Amino acid sequence: MEKIKVILDCDPGHDDAVAVLMAGKHPAIELLGITVVAGNQSLPKTVTNALNVCQHVGIDVPVYAGSTRPLVQQPRYAGFIHGTSGLDGPQFEPLTKKAEATHAVNFIIKTLLNSEGDITLVPTGPLTNIALAMRLEPRIIPKIKQIVLMGGSVGQGNVTPAAEFNILADGEAAKIVFECGRPIVMCGLDVTRKVRCYQEVIDRMNQIGNKASYLFKEMMEFYNKTQKEAFKWEGGPLHDPVTIAYLIDPSVLTLQHCHVDIEIRSEQSYGRTNCDLVGFLKKEENAYVATDIDVDKFWDIIEECLKLYN
Ligand code: RIB
Ligand code: CA
Repeated sequence: MEKIKVILDCDPGHDDAVAVLMAGKHPAIELLGITVVAGNQSLPKTVTNALNVCQHVGIDVPVYAGSTRPLVQQPRYAGFIHGTSGLDGPQFEPLTKKAEATHAVNFIIKTLLNSEGDITLVPTGPLTNIALAMRLEPRIIPKIKQIVLMGGSVGQGNVTPAAEFNILADGEAAKIVFECGRPIVMCGLDVTRKVRCYQEVIDRMNQIGNKASYLFKEMMEFYNKTQKEAFKWEGGPLHDPVTIAYLIDPSVLTLQHCHVDIEIRSEQSYGRTNCDLVGFLKKEENAYVATDIDVDKFWDIIEECLKLYN
């Protein structure tokens, strides 16, 4: 089967780190590069985290540093979930892997322009890098095969009642991306909150007994602690890996094609993804919104990915 060519744009972040583990070794995916954006923590920290994960488990993929801040909004971080480093919990070896000299946005532009139009973008953080690339070089837009992103929600947000973190962090960037006209799969909180990394999941993955599974355990035990402190629930939702799980097996998600608009004018609802599932507005559909997830199949995919490591 032909590999899916992927650029993973992320802000590691514990759940981003699991998405990196999944995309880094799965035979269905050719990971062309990891581009990093400020989000869960500042850019130097999210870049360091991406490099540490790749070096620790032996993912030989270039890492590119991107935007240090949103297009318009002031930076906001999620240290209360991901810790001071952005990936608190695991201890890594001294870091020798280096980020590439090329800026992430220039890597995205160059790679797409030189492609056959067969590259999937997988953003799992704020959409700043993707929006900048589209504005800097609009010729890349028809070259994007599809965008499979973690962000938004049909229902409640997770930072404000209206907005999910990735969209809220840079609503202007999200509006640019959702209006680009290319196929978008939106993996929002409606499905990601259903894949909760309970202790029995951690125990199941830990029994695989390799570097990736031990890293998963160390990351998730920290992540669950902060998720419980913040949201009073057991088992943190494993948001970002839903994107990669969908690429590996699209049947894991139930999608609905609809019009999605990003609220950027309202103070109360800034960053909301208004998903017109009913079609009230009779506007052209611009995204496939995930409305359900096969939870058992999702964890089977996570286990399959972690087993690929030594
Ligand atoms: O709202 C969840 C999203 O925000 C995830 O991508 C998480 O990593 C943070 O970036
Ligand atoms: Ca993320």
